[in-house]
Amino acid sequence: MKRVDDFRLKFGNREFVPIMIGGMGVDISTAELALEAARLGGIGHISDAMVTDVSDRRFDTKFVKNKLKLYRHNIDNSDKSIIKFDLGALAEATRRHVEATMQSKRGEGLIFVNCMEKLTMNAPRETLQVRMASALDAGVDGITLSAGLHLGSFGLLAEHPRFRDAKLGIIVSSVRALQLFLRKNARLNRLPDYVIVEGPLAGGHLGFGTDWAQYDLATIIAEVVQYLRTEQLAIPVIAAGGIFTGSDAVSFLVSGSAAVQVATRFTVANECGLPKKVKQEYFKASEEDIIVNTVSPTGYPMRMLRNTPAIGAGIRPNCEAYGYLLDGNGGCAYISAYNRELALHPDAKTLSVLDKTCLCTHMRNFNCWTCGQTTYRLKDTSRRLEDGSYETLSAEHIFRDYQFSIDHKIALPGTAF
Ligand SMILES: Cc1cc2nc3c(=O)[nH]c(=O)nc-3n(C[C@H](O)[C@H](O)[C@H](O)COP(=O)(O)O)c2cc1C
Repeated sequence: MKRVDDFRLKFGNREFVPIMIGGMGVDISTAELALEAARLGGIGHISDAMVTDVSDRRFDTKFVKNKLKLYRHNIDNSDKSIIKFDLGALAEATRRHVEATMQSKRGEGLIFVNCMEKLTMNAPRETLQVRMASALDAGVDGITLSAGLHLGSFGLLAEHPRFRDAKLGIIVSSVRALQLFLRKNARLNRLPDYVIVEGPLAGGHLGFGTDWAQYDLATIIAEVVQYLRTEQLAIPVIAAGGIFTGSDAVSFLVSGSAAVQVATRFTVANECGLPKKVKQEYFKASEEDIIVNTVSPTGYPMRMLRNTPAIGAGIRPNCEAYGYLLDGNGGCAYISAYNRELALHPDAKTLSVLDKTCLCTHMRNFNCWTCGQTTYRLKDTSRRLEDGSYETLSAEHIFRDYQFSIDHKIALPGTAF
C-alpha cells in the first residue's frame, strides 16, 4: 500500500516531499507554518495579503498608521478613489516579510509567496508588479499566483533578473483557465513551473460559481493532465481542495498529480496564525456550519463558517487604513452596499449589511472564518481536553501524518511516526 512518502515532487533535479501547505491570508499561513513545511522537505507558503499590516505586527513598523494619517480626512467621504498605496512602502513591507522568513529557512524544502490578483489596491498592475518584484528581490523561492486569471502577471515580471530562475506557478480551477493563461503568455516563452488545480472543496475564495457542488477535483485534474499530455507540456500538476488524509493525497499522486496542496488540516496547527479561540470554532464546526456565500466583495464565492462574525456586520469601510480591495477606480462592492444601507437608515446607530462584508478589516481581525469543506472533520484529528476544548497540533505532526499515513488513518497527537 502506497504512502505519500513513496512519491517525490521534482523541480529540475531537485526533489521534494510532495506536500505543499497552501497560502492562507491574512497571515493565517504564518512564516512559522511555512517554515515547518520547508524544514520537513515540502513547500510552504506565506501570503502577501495585507502585507503592510502583517509587517506592522511582525516588525513593529507603522505602515498602516502612516497611511491612515495621510487619508484620515477622507473617512466620511464615500468616494475612496484618492486612496493610493505608497509603492515604496509596499515594497519595503513585502521585503521585510519575505526576507525575515527566508533568513529563518532550514531544511531542503521551499518557501513560496501566495499573491492574490484580486487584491487590486486601487492600482492593480503597479501594485502587483511591486509585490511580486519585491518578493523576488527578497529571495523568495517562488510565487504562486491566485484569485484571478493572471493573464498579464508573468509579463509584469519579464524584466526581473529572477524571472527565469524563481519558481512561478498559477492556481486554476478549470482546464479552460489554464489554456487561456498559456495562450496569453506564449510570447514570453516562460511556462509556469507548476499548476495548482484547486477544486470546489477548498477554503478561501473559490474559482467556481455558486454551482460549485457540481464540480469534482478528480475530473478537473484528469482534464488538465490530459491537456498537458496532448500539448506535450511537462508541467507538474498539484491537486488542492478537500484532500484530508494521506490516502486522499495518494489517490491524486497515482493518477497524474505531482503533489498536493493542503490547508484546512493546518488551520488548527500551533503555528497557524488564527487566534486560539477561532481554532476552537474550526474544531467544533459540524458539516451544516460550513457555507459558501457571496459576501466577499471580490465577486468570488467564499467558503466560511456560518457563525462568522463578518457576516452582516455593517462597519464603516476602512479603506483609509487598508483598501486592499479597491478596484482600479477606487470602488469596492462593500462600499456600495454600506452606502446603500446608510442612505436607507440614516439615523441608525448600527447598520447591518448582509450582502457584502468589509473583507480587509474582518480578515485582518480574524473575524472572517474562511475554511475548507472538510473543516467539520478536524475534530477527528485531535483529542478533546478536560475543559471541553480540543488540543491543537504541531504542524510537523500534521505534515508527517499526510506523509506516512495509510488506509485513511489519522494519527492523533502524540503518535510517533
Ligand atoms: C483559512 C484558509 C484561508 C485561505 N486563504 C487563501 C488565500 O489567501 N489565497 C489562496 O490562494 N488560497 C487560500 N486558501 C486556499 C488554500 O491555499 C488551499 O489551496 C485549499 O484550501 C486546499 O484545500 P484544503 O483546505 O481542503 O486542504 C485558503 C484556505 C483556508 C482553509
